[in-house]
Amino acid sequence: MRKIVIAIDGYSSCGKSTMAKDLARKIGYTYIDTGAMYRAVTCYALQHGLFSDGKIDEKALSQAIDDIHICFCRNAAGQVETCLNGKSVEKEIRGMDVSNHVSQVAALGFVRKAMVRQQQEMGKEKGVVLDGRDIGSVVFPDAELKVFVTASVEVRAKRRLDELVAKGENTTLEEVKKNIQMRDYIDSTRVESPLRKVDDAVVLDNSNMSIEEQDAFLLALYEERVSMF
Ligand code: DC
Repeated sequence: MRKIVIAIDGYSSCGKSTMAKDLARKIGYTYIDTGAMYRAVTCYALQHGLFSDGKIDEKALSQAIDDIHICFCRNAAGQVETCLNGKSVEKEIRGMDVSNHVSQVAALGFVRKAMVRQQQEMGKEKGVVLDGRDIGSVVFPDAELKVFVTASVEVRAKRRLDELVAKGENTTLEEVKKNIQMRDYIDSTRVESPLRKVDDAVVLDNSNMSIEEQDAFLLALYEERVSMF
């Protein structure tokens, strides 16, 4: 069967990565978490003191960008982890510190250019599921299947809080909700590749769906689409 590119875009904390990962596993595709790549660049900037008063030093980051290498590797337990210059940063990139700074970094043109180049290279043989904000619009505008995922802010904040608490982070529903709303605003109003639904994307509102329901919805979409090629 011909392999296709599957682009899953949408708001923060909609469960995009869960559904993209589940689908990739079921159909034997490679999953590429593009948000993790922007998070890893943010982690680099934090580790190297490139933020002062919450503002990124763009010049210093632009000088360092060619030295920032991100890849996905399997750990001893077989789980995929995001690596920054050869070292796993999987735990760090999911914390609130990175979450609070990542939108600023993801809005920078030179950062996006470098990440998009890497993502296009990773997906050039097709057989990939990518999730992000600009996959269907910029990274793979010719993707055979594009999905735009959304859910209410309340539902998203609750899901994200549960995830953070399970990881031992000390935060509140209000703080998480504020972070999500701030990221929605920055992601959809930025000049560089803003989050938007492209005309040929299928909308998936999963506010009232279980993980099993959304997985089934996506699998059916894939089967329908792949039979067309
Ligand atoms: O999906 P996520 O929450 O892990 O993404 C982290 C941040 O990176 C989010 O604020 C939006 C940004 N992002 C982006 O601008 N483009 C992408 N393709 C993926 C993520």
